[in-house]
Amino acid sequence: MCPVACRTRDLSFAYGVDPVLRGVDLVVPTGVVMGIVGPNGAGKSTLIKAMLGLLRPLNGGAEFFGQPLAAVRQKVGYMPQSTTVDWDFPARVLDVVTMGTYSGLGWLRRPGRPERDRALVALEQTGIPELAGQQIGELSGGQRQRVFLARALAQAPELYFMDEPFQGIDARSQQAILGVLHRLREQGRTVVIVHHDLATVADYCDHVTLLNRRVIAAGSVAEAFTRANIREAYEVPDADDSGFLR
Ligand SMILES: Nc1ncnc2c1ncn2[C@@H]1O[C@H](COP(=O)(O)OP(=O)(O)O)[C@@H](O)[C@H]1O
Ligand SMILES: [Mg+2]
Repeated sequence: MCPVACRTRDLSFAYGVDPVLRGVDLVVPTGVVMGIVGPNGAGKSTLIKAMLGLLRPLNGGAEFFGQPLAAVRQKVGYMPQSTTVDWDFPARVLDVVTMGTYSGLGWLRRPGRPERDRALVALEQTGIPELAGQQIGELSGGQRQRVFLARALAQAPELYFMDEPFQGIDARSQQAILGVLHRLREQGRTVVIVHHDLATVADYCDHVTLLNRRVIAAGSVAEAFTRANIREAYEVPDADDSGFLR
């Protein structure tokens, strides 16, 4: 297994004229939970989308396990920020989760029993097996997050990107998602989460990249998640120290 799960080199991106990301060099070692942390509008979601080829960088790009995304697409899962997803289309939870397995199917194969079973296992793992038959439009925010997570689990990738998986959900769903995160880490998988609750970064993540349009600091939590770096990323004056650090 490649020691680096993914990296970007000198990645820059702009939606319009002003760059949103400048010269981002990101390195995610295999087997860690990496938090991408920074204030609202820092470019965290944009970075993930640019890495995954959903947006076209101005410059630079990403590689995964030493290869371009196209060569390893099945090994890479993505859970988008749920606020950005249209939940109005009619679909059953089980179907949405089963879709996670499609990338593993060859041409002209339809999902069958094994794919469905993997989806059901994923629903068990995220604690929502009873929702299998429900329409996704009827779910609460926390339930939707868990459906997304189950879909990513059903795909069984080596590397997961999760954009704000803990945002706007109840404590039970947070615990369920955290449990899955820990299990993935135990299995040696790599997880990149966009996370903006500074109080839990040290608990949830092994490594952190502080981002605000550019990389402010990156490394193990002990090395990079320091007061000075957080202040710089959040542009907070010295006096405002909310005590995230122990
Ligand atoms: N589709 C878009 N078109 C134009 N500007 C965008 C778009 N999406 C995001 N932006 C802008 O890019 C910047 C970074 O956004 P985003 O990556 O969503 O930040 P974060 O995820 O860190 O909160 C913000 O200033 C945001 O307003
Ligand atoms: Mg975002």
